[in-house]
Amino acid sequence: MESNARDKLEETPENVRRKMSNTSKALGYENVDTFMEECLREKSPEEAKKFYANWAANYDNEVKEVEYNGPELFAKSFPKLNVPRNAEIIDIAAGTGALGEKLNAMGYKYIDALDGTPEMLDIARKKNVYRNFCQFLMGCGYESPIKDGTYDVAISCGAIGQGHIPYNAFYEIIAMVKQGGLICWLANDPSEGEDEESFKTVMADLTDSGKWKVFQEPIRLEYFYRKDSAFFRVMQKL
Ligand SMILES: C[S@@+](CC[C@H](N)C(=O)[O-])C[C@H]1O[C@@H](n2cnc3c(N)ncnc32)[C@H](O)[C@@H]1O
Repeated sequence: MESNARDKLEETPENVRRKMSNTSKALGYENVDTFMEECLREKSPEEAKKFYANWAANYDNEVKEVEYNGPELFAKSFPKLNVPRNAEIIDIAAGTGALGEKLNAMGYKYIDALDGTPEMLDIARKKNVYRNFCQFLMGCGYESPIKDGTYDVAISCGAIGQGHIPYNAFYEIIAMVKQGGLICWLANDPSEGEDEESFKTVMADLTDSGKWKVFQEPIRLEYFYRKDSAFFRVMQKL
């Protein structure tokens, strides 16, 4: 096939669907739904890294197929915080850089990308929207490569919670941020079982020990993933 014809084929919705099922099949899943169940299943950070290493090359096309709208929703809420355009920002679990692209287009030029999966960062690098890159698996007890108090703002979209970054990583995230800086994330609300317990415990410990305070009450955003909503939360380091 001529390369032009192949490029055209790759842009059609039908072909995007086919690529989705190919990835699911390659990973041993029956269909997109079982694949997404695995994505959200409680698992170790090492397992999450392996999952995303296999998905990286097709991630950007396939998240459209599964109706994931996280970066768009985050980018609509973020400007209301009036963060100066010259703020130093770290995008935690930046993935392939969808959020970085949107904030860069708004004028934020000092964004660094952190992610545990090198294959995801390789895609993000090609977008030319991040300043530095850091491959680091958070919440695993490894020593953080980021100097304390480096950033004005830490942001994260679709990556904190079940099947992804464990809540105890908030201790590492707070350390990276300057005093008075913000920590903003958009994620499913943990609503049951151990996930909810762990979330409440970490939030309460950090609040009670005076490490952070609520900067803005959580905002529920609809259609985060398919018809599911998620919460946009903003805390301030004390
Ligand atoms: C659903 S993707 C979100 C990527 C991007 N923020 C977005 O909204 O498109 C989740 C990302 O979290 C990363 N991740 C999962 N667990 C991690 C951990 N413990 N430390 C660092 N990154 C992690 C994965 O590698 C993946 O890139």
